[in-house]
Amino acid sequence: MPATRLDGKKIALEIRAEVAKAVEQFVAEGNAPPKLAAVLVGEDPASQVYVRNKERACEKTGIASQLDRLPASTSPTELLERIDQLNRDPSVNGILVQLPLPQPTGDGPALDERAVLDAVDPIKDVDAFSPINVGLLMQGRPRFLPCTPHGIVQMLHRCNIATAAKHVVVVGRSEIVGKPMAMMLAQKDGSCGPETANATVTIAHSRTKNLKEICLSADILIAAVGRPEMIRGDMIQPGAVVVDVGINRVEDRLVGDVAFDEAAEVASAITPVPGGVGPLTIAMLLHNTLLAAKLQAAK
Ligand SMILES: NC(=O)c1ccc[n+]([C@@H]2O[C@H](COP(=O)([O-])OP(=O)(O)OC[C@H]3O[C@@H](n4cnc5c(N)ncnc54)[C@H](OP(=O)(O)O)[C@@H]3O)[C@@H](O)[C@H]2O)c1
Repeated sequence: MPATRLDGKKIALEIRAEVAKAVEQFVAEGNAPPKLAAVLVGEDPASQVYVRNKERACEKTGIASQLDRLPASTSPTELLERIDQLNRDPSVNGILVQLPLPQPTGDGPALDERAVLDAVDPIKDVDAFSPINVGLLMQGRPRFLPCTPHGIVQMLHRCNIATAAKHVVVVGRSEIVGKPMAMMLAQKDGSCGPETANATVTIAHSRTKNLKEICLSADILIAAVGRPEMIRGDMIQPGAVVVDVGINRVEDRLVGDVAFDEAAEVASAITPVPGGVGPLTIAMLLHNTLLAAKLQAAK
């Protein structure tokens, strides 16, 4: 039987409607609408599209947004100064620095992504990249959850896919997706959602041996690699749930890290690309921006 398609777009709309309602309530209580400040350095076309989508999503949810467009020639000092201004601006609740930062154009110094992300005030860190927020997540008492893994947890929960005692294989160990994903699903106390913890988690990466065998042992397989259709149908245990985080442009179409048609023959459920994990990431960014505004209002 072909796999159930996990409709991330539909779940994201549900979450966005919930956030919009909560924003309305927050404003009715006498607060200013939450505000997200996005910083975009350079002219990368994909980044421009991502930022525009985030701005539109804010608008539809009652969240204010502002976009700082900085030239690719921006120096590290200038960028850090801009972040500092946003940190100190009480009207800004969330700060998002769109990645990747551009490479230096001339002889100028490179922009250090780590230093820039570290400079964001942890209470405005809606991407959950700051060491403080990563540390809180590690300790099972998260403040902000990183948007992509949080979206996946929400999707599993809302699709009644329990993770307790399941073997989850996460392929990829990036700071943005793989590592926090694994950490959230391995939590003991359900701090990231009671239905979505207590998994037995394996993290695979480019130095992993026997990737196929490891993937075949997964009840839930999460691919966050960035290699088009690398996970083939014969790497999936019959009946497994497959979550495809990858977004890869191949000629003029977007494909995931999973060979969808082959995988859908074997899996019990699978996310499509596009329309799977991507929309959930934006929904959780909106959630985090409201959370940031609430935390700052309570201070
Ligand atoms: N849907 C969304 O909202 C969303 C959000 C973020 C990212 N993405 C997409 O998700 C994908 C991954 O993004 P990312 O930022 O996590 O990527 P990343 O930082 O490039 O990390 C990729 C990971 O995959 C591992 N890897 C590479 N080749 C491998 C191989 N042959 N076998 C096993 N592991 C391998 C790497 O291992 P090493 O650590 O050993 O190098 C690394 O840990 C990309 O397509 C990206 O566009 C989507």
